[in-house]
Formats: sequence, structure tokens, C-alpha cells
Amino acid sequence: MRIVIARGYEDMSMRAAMIVAGQVCLKPDSVLGLATGSTPLLMYNKLVEMHHKAGLDFSNVISFNLDEYLGLAKEDQNSYHWYMYHNFFNHINIASGNIHIPNGMTQDIDQECRRYDREIRQCGGIDLQILGIGTNGHIGFNEPDIKFEATTHKVKLDQETVSANARFFADISEVPRFAISMGIKTIMHAKKILLLANGESKADAIYRAMYQGITPETPASILQLHQDVTVIVEESASKYI
Ligand code: GLP
Repeated sequence: MRIVIARGYEDMSMRAAMIVAGQVCLKPDSVLGLATGSTPLLMYNKLVEMHHKAGLDFSNVISFNLDEYLGLAKEDQNSYHWYMYHNFFNHINIASGNIHIPNGMTQDIDQECRRYDREIRQCGGIDLQILGIGTNGHIGFNEPDIKFEATTHKVKLDQETVSANARFFADISEVPRFAISMGIKTIMHAKKILLLANGESKADAIYRAMYQGITPETPASILQLHQDVTVIVEESASKYI
């Protein structure tokens, strides 16, 4: 694991954007695994800026998002579908056919999960996976559990996750209780992983993920076994490391 302590959110975001941009420049048809949440927002802004000002070309990039809430339509402003288009895809030249996000409105969850895994396999797996981290150590929506879930699956969200994400909704009762998430095996098969953490609320999760034992109770701890992980930790999130 390469650990970089960033001097603030801006620095974390710029460093992350440079890594993504480098990946796309070196391999224009890269398969990117993308994350949502507040952490990567400024990284997306910077990539949009690099597209407009420096011609960073996403026309051959393929993307797979980590997760989606079950029961939220694409048009719902709290869906990760909406987040990705609003914050990133609408502002770059990625081809719409190259964008993949789990369908949160599917009538057949198992089939949707199998379809998602099949499409990732058909694209040759993920070249660079971006990850945030939950305060409980989750990655994607892989919640603390007694085992690691390998493939794309339905998740019951932890109370801690529901509370943490309630800030985006009008009321906590509106936060979906279920989601579809890429599994740990798929994430671990990514050639490179970039984990971002911002804010003091992530300090404990980062410490447990990086320095404590590998356990499904802290899903991000599995990353200790990956051969090419860069962790960019904004300084207040690095308090315990
Ligand atoms: C959400 C997402 C994760 C994200 C995490 C942290 O629940 N499913 O992919 O990394 O929470 O979010 P934030 O960056 O807003 O703290």
C-alpha cells in the first residue's frame, strides 16, 4: 500500500485526479471503477476541468460504478445514477454506451447482479478502481459482515450507513435500506486501486482498514492483500496512522 497524506481536501482531490488522468492518458480505453459519495466530488470536478482545459479524452473510457440504491429511479436526485451524470458524465466526452451503473429499479435483482458481473468480465475487468470508505469501513456498499461477498449482490445497509447518508435526503426515513453493490472479489481483481478518505470521521475506519487485522467486519481491510493500492488520506483522516 502506498499511503499519501494530503494537505487538505483540495490536495487529496488533485492528487487523485492526476492518478486517474494518468491512467486515461496511458490507456485511453481504460476500464474505470467509479465511486460516489461526497469524497470524490472535487476529484470529478478536477477531471472535468482537465477535460475542458487540457483535452483529457474520455471517449474510449469504460466505466462501472460500484453501487446503486435499490428502489431509486435514475432521475431521483439521490440515486447514484443521477450523481454520476450530474457531477461527471454530463461534463465529459464519455460515450453513453460505455457507462455502467447497477439498475436500482430492477425487478430481478439476481439477474441484474449476474448481468453486471458478466459485463465487467466482458470488458476485461477493472483497470483502476476508485474507492471511498464508510465510517464503518465499508467499500462500495460492502458492509461489515461475517464474510466477504465476492460478486455483485444485494445489500442491507447498516444503520450507521443509513445515518451517515441521511444528510443527502430530506429525512432519514427516505434513505433506502437496500442497495446493489459490486463484490469484494471484483474490487480486488482491479489492477490498481485508489482509496480516498477525507475528514476526521474517517480516521478510525482508515486506521482499522490499514493497520488492524484483515476481517470482513472492516471490509476495506481486505485491501491490505492487494498488490497495487494507493491510499490518499486527507490529514484529518490520517489522525491515527
Ligand atoms: C457511500 C457509498 C460509498 C462511499 C461511502 C462514503 O455509502 N456507497 O461508495 O465511499 O458511502 O461516502 P462519503 O464520501 O460521502 O463519506
